[in-house]
Amino acid sequence: MVGGEKELRIRFVPGCCQLVEEDVDIPSRRVLITGATGLLGRAVFKEFNQNNWNAVGCGYRRAQPKFEQINLLDSVAVHEIIRDFQPHVIVHCAAERRPDVVESQPDAASQLNVAASGNLAKEAAGIGAFLIYISTDYVFDGTNPPYKETDIPNPLNLYGKTKLEGEKAVLENNDGAAVLRIPVLYGEVERLEESAVTVMFDKVQFSNKSANMDHWQQRFPTNVKDVATVCRQLAEKRMLDPSVKGTFHWSGNEQMTKYEMACAIADAFNLPSSHLRPITDCPVMGALRPRNAQLDCSKLEMLGIGQRTPFRAGIKESLWPFLVDKRWRQTVFH
Ligand SMILES: NC(=O)c1ccc[n+]([C@@H]2O[C@H](COP(=O)([O-])OP(=O)(O)OC[C@H]3O[C@@H](n4cnc5c(N)ncnc54)[C@H](OP(=O)(O)O)[C@@H]3O)[C@@H](O)[C@H]2O)c1
Repeated sequence: MVGGEKELRIRFVPGCCQLVEEDVDIPSRRVLITGATGLLGRAVFKEFNQNNWNAVGCGYRRAQPKFEQINLLDSVAVHEIIRDFQPHVIVHCAAERRPDVVESQPDAASQLNVAASGNLAKEAAGIGAFLIYISTDYVFDGTNPPYKETDIPNPLNLYGKTKLEGEKAVLENNDGAAVLRIPVLYGEVERLEESAVTVMFDKVQFSNKSANMDHWQQRFPTNVKDVATVCRQLAEKRMLDPSVKGTFHWSGNEQMTKYEMACAIADAFNLPSSHLRPITDCPVMGALRPRNAQLDCSKLEMLGIGQRTPFRAGIKESLWPFLVDKRWRQTVFH
């Protein structure tokens, strides 16, 4: 059973050892996290788990052994896990979030980002669970920042379009749900390629080769731990106040291009940055991106919700396991 409240334990008494079923002290608030194997989902799982919630995470290809393996396109499996676990809150992090993959596989991306999100919202409504659907700043075209929740979206690429359709599918099926829009993420990664921020690290640390870096698109790199905290705070607020619902924005507040992030990473590790070259032209390759989709976060701030880790501290914590040159490691940490 998912999130069961009994556990088998081995009890040793003089002369024998017994297998006994014992009640375990499980927190009464239950949260289900989709995409718990992904960059954001891992942080969300940890945040709830460490703050007195009974958290169950779902993954798909990477689920075993820590998480439940559920294909979100399988509506029967989704119905069963929700019926069995009866979560109070569902944080829906699973998505196809790579813009270039969405352009090349639009049907598969739409199934996950739109249809599966709508279905999850319906299932959540069926048991009265509060659903938080994670969305993106790419729903905006980036021509008139900062964006409030009430501003009209106009996504430039298919990824942004599927996420916006996902928002609509969620709110149509569940009018008590929340949509949380966030910008580019970084944090503890399994591989540097997992985040558009951490992927720059090798270009920064291998300073024998010059590297072109985008200096056109304005970004607001946001730590997954901060988003995870915002999700938990939002869930806890909602447990006390049913009027907490609808669309919200959360973002880091340090505006940087990729070139500026790369320089900040170099600075955080005392590495050289003279080999990094800023490219100020609009990128011509890949899916279109908004120039500046800065999110106005005042709605959440007014609710007393939020957390922001300074970029240099957050990126240093995330990247140090990938530092190649041990001499720098000594400079930075000893
Ligand atoms: N990353 C960013 O910079 C960024 C920026 C703005 C918004 N967002 C949004 O934040 C959310 C989380 O993004 P992320 O970067 O954490 O994504 P991610 O690391 O790419 O993780 C995607 C997750 O989706 C799961 N998944 C994929 N197909 C599935 C299926 N058919 N059934 C069930 N689960 C499936 C994956 O599970 P397996 O790996 O186990 O298969 C994985 O856990 C997304 O909604 C994304 O749109 C991300």
